[in-house]
Amino acid sequence: MKLKIAVLPGDGIGPEISREGVKVMQVIARKYGHEFSFQEALCGAAAIDAVGDPFPEETFRLCEASDAVLFSAVGDPRFDNNPNAKVRPEQGLLAMRKKLGLFANIRPITTFDCLVHNSPLKDEVVKGADFVCIRELTGGMYFGPKHEDDESAYDTNLYSRPEVERILRVAYDYAMKRNKHLTVVDKANVLASSRLWRKVAQQMEKDYPEVKTDYMYVDNASMRMIMEPRFFDVMVTENTFGDILTDEGSAVTGSMGLLPSASLGTSTPVFEPVHGSWPQAAGKNIANPLAQILSAAMLLENFGLMDEAASVRQAVQASLDQHVRTPEIQVPGGAHYGTVEVGSWIAQYIEQN
Ligand SMILES: NC(=O)c1ccc[n+]([C@@H]2O[C@H](COP(=O)([O-])OP(=O)(O)OC[C@H]3O[C@@H](n4cnc5c(N)ncnc54)[C@H](O)[C@@H]3O)[C@@H](O)[C@H]2O)c1
Repeated sequence: MKLKIAVLPGDGIGPEISREGVKVMQVIARKYGHEFSFQEALCGAAAIDAVGDPFPEETFRLCEASDAVLFSAVGDPRFDNNPNAKVRPEQGLLAMRKKLGLFANIRPITTFDCLVHNSPLKDEVVKGADFVCIRELTGGMYFGPKHEDDESAYDTNLYSRPEVERILRVAYDYAMKRNKHLTVVDKANVLASSRLWRKVAQQMEKDYPEVKTDYMYVDNASMRMIMEPRFFDVMVTENTFGDILTDEGSAVTGSMGLLPSASLGTSTPVFEPVHGSWPQAAGKNIANPLAQILSAAMLLENFGLMDEAASVRQAVQASLDQHVRTPEIQVPGGAHYGTVEVGSWIAQYIEQN
């Protein structure tokens, strides 16, 4: 298969993990006889520094003309600590999502048995937890009408019926492929936007009689996720709630560096880690590349390359089993492996197995 992949390394640890993701994809291409081409483009703070725009037109055109985007992370403390900054790296991320129509963010939250002790939760609570959070990505407060001055500010949590319907459709399709259990997370006891979500979901429920649909307030869901994460199979929620709940999901699995995601919509799909640019770790060769590498596996699955994706997942599992791990998940007394060493080990494992 021929695939044209736009690579957006971004900021902080982004370029380091990006290289490992590409390294793994290149090995897959060689092993399975595919032709993957990779072209890098600027985004985030790196793009602001270079051309004053966090998602330059040139980057957008490359993404649009590609089959997939392998994205890493954006964000820089120079902007985080300056509330008056007129242009911010994260605007690049939002612009990418909006311009590529990426309305569905798929975030699998999978625990690895060998890492359950890394979770701050009890082993018996975490073991076997495996669910998918589907986050709406181009609506809600992040994109609704806003106002900001020194005395008052607001963000509007605006959703239309078609926006809610299309994301619920994605969620139901996922539930049908998994254990047929969908949890719709909202705040319908307080928010009008959530009542629309619930109304639409209750109407759509009838189209999916095999799926058990339940409804949960977001405050309850955030508690349930850490009390009983195995309860969930597929969870669907709006943009803001999904942003927060999926970070909580990373605590369930034990490291931010383990969670991949896919953002799908009306144009080129984007595959990216859930975590940010962890600027404090940039250049230190300590960032875990697994979220990026597993995002590459999701990319392969998106194009039906199931054996190739399975080969990546198997190599990731082997690296964990054999304690080839970055420091945040290494066993006490375990050898030191950096971002590059973990990526290279996985690439070599794929080549040899
Ligand atoms: N999608 C994105 O690009 C994205 C998402 C979230 C935050 N951000 C931006 O990233 C910057 C830093 O934000 P933050 O500190 O809140 O979140 P972050 O995800 O960058 O880091 C939070 C913590 O997660 C852990 N972590 C993150 N990535 C890891 C990895 N690969 N391996 C091991 N551990 C890892 C570290 O302990 C880190 O302290 C900010 O500028 C923020 O706006 C970007």
